[in-house]
Amino acid sequence: SDELSLRPTTLSQYIGQSKIKENLGIFIQAAKMREEPLDHVLLYGPPGLGKTTLAAIIANEMGVEFRTTSGPSIERSGDLAAILSSLEPGDVLFIDEIHRLPRAVEEILYPAMEDFFLDIVIGTGPSARSVRIDLPPFTLVGATTRAGLLSAPLRDRFGVLSRLEFYEAVDLCEIVKRSADIFQTSITKEAAIEVARRARGTPRIANRLLKRIRDISQVKEEKTISLETADLALNMLQVDDVGLDHIDHKLLKGIIEDFKGGPVGLDTIAATIGEEPQTIEDVYEPYLLQISFIQRTPRGRIATPRAYNHFGLKTEAQE
Ligand code: ADE
Repeated sequence: SDELSLRPTTLSQYIGQSKIKENLGIFIQAAKMREEPLDHVLLYGPPGLGKTTLAAIIANEMGVEFRTTSGPSIERSGDLAAILSSLEPGDVLFIDEIHRLPRAVEEILYPAMEDFFLDIVIGTGPSARSVRIDLPPFTLVGATTRAGLLSAPLRDRFGVLSRLEFYEAVDLCEIVKRSADIFQTSITKEAAIEVARRARGTPRIANRLLKRIRDISQVKEEKTISLETADLALNMLQVDDVGLDHIDHKLLKGIIEDFKGGPVGLDTIAATIGEEPQTIEDVYEPYLLQISFIQRTPRGRIATPRAYNHFGLKTEAQE
């Protein structure tokens, strides 16, 4: 699919996150020189910044298989045992949303990560016994939105902890141009900058916007995606001048209009605008915090003067 073909497959193709790339490049090279699997890696940060892509790159650079699963899909210890015992030496096992692993499953992961064996209890009651299963050495790559969601014992078993940051506009612009090339679509520099500027620091959003802009450009029978078309399409998609969408607006206006700018608790604001608290926290808030439109205080979220100003409003203090 488009989604897959857009993904870079090597560290050198991967744009942005320069510190993470530099560090991983060294750790991968050293592990290969020692002919050992790479240490376990925890990737954390907001959705859409490339955690899965980086995990696949790690496997590719190490020259091993990439196996993927997710926290919520592993319900019982046996599910994880089946996956782990089917790995080849050195393989990368990617567990997305690793913070959602059931507690009992998480506990069998500790010895697997540390010493490459499983302690599985077979049967129940007086006849229950524990069997030890040796595993091939492997690399666990875990992904989560916030490292703080993991229990300390699990977090402590990762040798590499990398936090993905929102992308700078120059990096997003390179990603947009690269994706346009893959789509065999031409785009002006100005249009690519506009998409980058309005993509909330997030490659997944930039690529999604590019696809919709390409549709509109195609219907207009343009040879090259122009700034005018990019702007028209972004406005049609309800992406505002700084990249905020309909839900960002509901969230900010909710805080400003219904709670006098806050502080308001997460659950309260979530109920008011009809979104899941977890979605607000993981998907919407991180970027609004990054651009200083909201702040988190011990008593809840507040909208900053910058957010008021974005809507042409004045705070009580400014009136
Ligand atoms: N496509 C999506 N994310 C990318 C990245 N970080 N580098 C290159 N292409 C990408």
